[in-house]
This record gives sequence, structure tokens and C-alpha cells, in this order.
Amino acid sequence: MGILQHLKDRFRPDRVTLQLDDIQALILRARPEPYVGIHAMLHVDDAAGGRDLLRRLAPHIPAAADWTEELTAWTGVAISHAGLKALGVPEGSLASFPLSFRQGMAARAEQLRDAGENAPEQWEEAYRDNRCHIALTIFASDQARLDEATDRAMSEYHASSGVTLIGTHRFGADADAKNPFGFRDSVSQPTVAGAGVDPQPGQERAIAPGEFILGEDSETGAPLEIPQPDALGRNGSYVVLRKYDSRPGAFNDFVRGQANDEAAQELLAAKMFGRWRSGAPLILSPTRDDEELGADPARRNDFDFSGDKAGIVCPHGAHMRRLNPRGERLTILTDENIHRIIRRSSTFGPKWSADLTAADDGEDDRGIFFIFISARAFDTIEFLQQEWINRGNFIDLGKERDPVVGLHEEPGRFTVPAEPVRRRIDGVTTYNRLRGGEYMFMPSLTALRWIAAGSWN
Ligand code: HEM
Repeated sequence: MGILQHLKDRFRPDRVTLQLDDIQALILRARPEPYVGIHAMLHVDDAAGGRDLLRRLAPHIPAAADWTEELTAWTGVAISHAGLKALGVPEGSLASFPLSFRQGMAARAEQLRDAGENAPEQWEEAYRDNRCHIALTIFASDQARLDEATDRAMSEYHASSGVTLIGTHRFGADADAKNPFGFRDSVSQPTVAGAGVDPQPGQERAIAPGEFILGEDSETGAPLEIPQPDALGRNGSYVVLRKYDSRPGAFNDFVRGQANDEAAQELLAAKMFGRWRSGAPLILSPTRDDEELGADPARRNDFDFSGDKAGIVCPHGAHMRRLNPRGERLTILTDENIHRIIRRSSTFGPKWSADLTAADDGEDDRGIFFIFISARAFDTIEFLQQEWINRGNFIDLGKERDPVVGLHEEPGRFTVPAEPVRRRIDGVTTYNRLRGGEYMFMPSLTALRWIAAGSWN
């Protein structure tokens, strides 16, 4: 059963407490499998022209009201701080946003540990100098639907003036939703309380809605501060965009260099991610991949790490375990539930193959356009980049970094706990290089109309 059917079967309208008809669909709607899509980055040259484009686009941005129903294509829109300014949003409102958002992603490079080849000076043009003002994302279940939605958006763009399209990026994956490394992604997502779908027994509890939707109660019991006025802030969220070029050839080489037989290589690759290629978690299938488990949304998240404290089955340093310790006691105490994120990642480029070597990396444009949504998105990404991705202290691994997304200016180490002695593997390099990104605000539908109408005038 696919993820959409799984959610639809469990949706209970009487459990909904969120204002779903005001929240953008993209926040709650799961990515279809297979999926195709496009990201478009726009620059606002003229405030009135930019607002006119938003007014034209607004009717094409669906609400989350029917978020578990099959939809064939949907568009989401997000705006950077420089974008809000260029659209003429008044100073009082601009100042009510969090400082990190006001500064933009490039200015936060130090907090994000975006140095060396990941530094903003190395980024693609579309992300330089806070140029990316508006980001449009269209997800669709097939190419024809995508083309229709893209044509509609493009005709609104051509009908308006004062906005420049500075970049587009196509993406997609087959029904098995494999990323550039040949691993299924988007398997684990937080359950948002009040959205109408409860977690299943054995799964992690629902997270307070204010962690994702501005104006709702957060995990602390009260709403986070929201941008002012209320019409602008309420029911919105924040988005982190990060475009990565992937190096699956270098990853393949690393894994091949550590073992002679294919089964041992596959096990090591799974230990680095925490799941097998199919999406089956190591904790539920420790020695071999299990396609059926990986494809089953009802079972593949039904686990925690309480039976594997030593990390013998799933290493503490595995990407998935680092980024969601699932209730585990960490050396550096953190409330993990305020660091949960909704991921809407999109894979681009040719499919993964076992034959790829480092010499093939860079030949084609392949990677992940990583999108995550949270009402604390900027604090969370900066925390994750500093603590859980580019350090190892919280799990007693010193300077060891995330083996999938860590920045390795020097070749790094991956520790695989085992009996009688753990294995320490050196030579991990940067398998995902950052090419650009931005901090964005995803307005509610009310706020989109508020901005489009220049309601402050
Ligand atoms: C760009 C390269 C990346 C690749 C190839 C990648 C790959 C994966 C894969 C295969 C999984 C397991 C399946 C799933 O639940 O989706 C996963 C999980 C996850 N990743 Fe990534 N990821 C990348 C970047 C990131 C970044 C930058 C972050 C955070 C800042 C992140 C956060 C997460 C989280 C939170 C999970 C789910 C953990 C859980 O709830 O079990 N990933 N990733």
C-alpha cells in the first residue's frame, strides 16, 4: 500500500483541530510515489509587479484541507526575507521575523558550518546575494499533470512584469522513491497533532502542531512568536531550502574499498544510512534487506533504539539515528521533539547504479533539493548542522561527523560498533556538496492574499 492510501485510511475528520483550509497543502501533503516536479526561483524587481504575480498565483496554491486525498499536482510558494522587503512589506512586519531569517542563509554560514567547498562564495548564482526572493515548488504524480500545472504558473508569470525567473530545477523519482545513492527516502515523517491522522501503536507520538504551524501551541504548551500582524503570521511556517550535488560514485568507492563481497558492502552502506536501500530499518531487519518491509508504511517506522543501546545493529553514527534518536538518552541532553522536521526532499539526475565510481561524479547533474518545514526551521537547521551532523560529542563519538551529509574538509571516520571490538573506518569524504540555499517563509493562504493586496497600504 502506498503512503497516500495509508494516510487516507487513517484520516479522521473529527480529530482535526488545525485550520486546514488556510494552510498550504505542501506542508502536510505527502510526496506521491512515483513523483515528478519542478522548483522555480524568482527575483522581485518591482514591488507592485511582484504582488501582482502573487495575486495571480494565489488561486493555484491549494490548501491542506484534503491533504490525505489523491491530488494529481500541487504548488507551494515560499518567500525569503529579502523577497518580503522587495514586495513592499512594511518595516514593522519585516522586523517581527526571527533574526536568522532576516539575515538569510548565506549570512548564517558560520552557524550552519557551511565552510570550504560548501561556503556561500561557491554557490550557484540563483542563491547568491539573497537573490532568491520567491520559490515555487510543484509536485505531481506524472509528467502530463506537471506540464499542465507548470504551464498555468508560467502563463501567470508571463502575464506579469517586474519579476524575473532566475532558475528552474526539475526533479523526480520512480515508485521506489530512490535518492541519488539508491536508497528510498522520505520514509519517516513526524505526525502533526491536530491534522487528523494519529500515529499507530508502537510509533512515535504526535508532535504539537505549533512546531510546524505558526500560531498553534508548540511542544512548550504555548505558541511560538509569530510575525505580525496576525494575518501575515498565523497558519504559516518556515522552510529551509538546500540544494546538494551528490557524489554516489565516491560513496560507492568508499563502501567497495571496505569489503570484498557485495553483501558486506551493502551492510556497511545500510549502517551509514540506518536503513537498507528498500527503506527497511536495520533495527527490524538487521542482516539483510527486506523489500516488503521497506515498502510498508504501516511497519517500517514501528521501532526505536531501546533494544540496541550499544549500536550493534544500527550504529549511533548512522544518518537516520543521528537525526532522530527516537527517545534515546543522549550524552548532551536535548529535547528532540523540538527538532523534528517535515521533509519534502526531491531527487534529481540519473538513477543510481552500482557501477558508478568517483570518476563519474560531476559528469551529470545529480543530487537532492532538500526542503524542510518547521516553525523553528532556522534554529533547528543550525542546531542540526552544528551538533548532530558536524559533530559526534552527543553520542560520544568526538569529532566524527554524519557519514551522509557531514562536511568532511579532511577525510573523516565512521564507527561501527561490533562484538568483540568496534570497527573504525577512515576515509569518509563529503558525499553531498551544498550548491546553495535560502531561508524562506511559507505564508498561509490568507497571508498570501494579504501580501498580494498590499493590505498595509
Ligand atoms: C542531502 C543528502 C541527504 C541524503 C542522501 C539523505 C538520505 C536520507 C535517507 C535515505 C534517510 C532514511 C529514510 C527516510 O526516513 O527518509 C534519511 C532520513 C532522514 N534525514 Fe536525510 N538525507 C540527506 C540530507 C539530510 C539533511 C541535510 C537533514 C537535516 C538537516 C536530514 C534529515 C533527515 C531526517 C530527520 C531523517 C529521518 C530520521 C527518522 O525520523 O528516522 N537529511 N535521510
